Amino acid sequence: MQTNTYILGIESSCDDTAAAVIHNNKICSNVVATQKIHEAYGGVVPELASRAHQQNIVPVIHQALREANIDKKQLSAIAFTRGPGLMGSLLVGTSFAKSLAMGLNIPLIEVNHMQGHILAHFIDDGDNEKPNFPFLAMTISGGHTQIVKVSSHFEMEVIGETIDDAVGEAFDKSAKILGLPYPGGPLIDKYAQTGDPKRFPFTKPKVGPMDFSFSGLKTAVLYFVQREVKNNPNFIEENLEDICASLQYTIVSYLMDKIKNAVKHTGIKEIAIGGGVSANSGIRKALREAESKYNWKTHIPKFEYCTDNAAMIAIVGELKYKEQSFTNLNVSANARMKI
Ligand code: KG4
Ligand code: ZN
Repeated sequence: MQTNTYILGIESSCDDTAAAVIHNNKICSNVVATQKIHEAYGGVVPELASRAHQQNIVPVIHQALREANIDKKQLSAIAFTRGPGLMGSLLVGTSFAKSLAMGLNIPLIEVNHMQGHILAHFIDDGDNEKPNFPFLAMTISGGHTQIVKVSSHFEMEVIGETIDDAVGEAFDKSAKILGLPYPGGPLIDKYAQTGDPKRFPFTKPKVGPMDFSFSGLKTAVLYFVQREVKNNPNFIEENLEDICASLQYTIVSYLMDKIKNAVKHTGIKEIAIGGGVSANSGIRKALREAESKYNWKTHIPKFEYCTDNAAMIAIVGELKYKEQSFTNLNVSANARMKI
């Protein structure tokens, strides 16, 4: 199979409009337009997201082609996120990808967003060591929290997942309670740096050994803050660093407990993380420490491949292109697409 290909990846599953070009495993461009409009609402508003995708998609793709220094006629295929995600958002990327593939008369390749987060580890970025099969992938983002056993590029089995909120939601909703803007995850991480992680103990929710639950934690934060603010109206401002550090400590050690259980259950000691929350400094540090402590091998993606991006869609497109795994032009978006 020809490998001298240029593949365009398009991602529009949530609130980032993104396009990237990949050539022989290497990313030539990786453009992301993050929709700021949702900040004012404290979370993603689906209707506004799809409208913003419609405005952003053409300039974002143009920029990706320009930065890759190629003309659209040089493209070998179009890869796009078919799901899971917000239906209105997915529809924008899906229809655009279909029209572009049809207009250029080149293959269309559907990509599962969650597989994208996992397979982003196979992008060649110079100094990264790629995971060896089988490995465990923990996908932690604003929309999903899963532990996946990855036996080959396209053989994946979900062995644990959240029964309610995603871990990113736990960060964002707790941040909202603390009066921080959306998305609050990176801010909690920032304030946690200078706080005392043991100051305020939060209870870890109890579910199956490899499953997750975060809705109780959010409620615990709410009641805790309400109680303390009643006694001291300045409680949040005076203790923000310690609250954030304690919260981050609880979430990170909960994630680590689940990964340890998955290692015990599968005997696999090679672990890769993906999704926006893998940008968190606490989980990165905990994984690095576990490497030497438990003799694990861990893979942490580059920051730009952690949060939603199209480079991860383009790498899956390239892997599927090699297998000639193409998608019919009558495909439709699938908001609840499974791995
Ligand atoms: O993968 P992503 O960009 O979009 C989804 O598919 O959801 O993940 C976004 C999530 C948000 O919840 C955001 O708060 C969280 O990732 N996030 C973080 C950090 N950076 C992003 N959470 C904690 N610490 C961070 N440093
Ligand atoms: Zn994502």
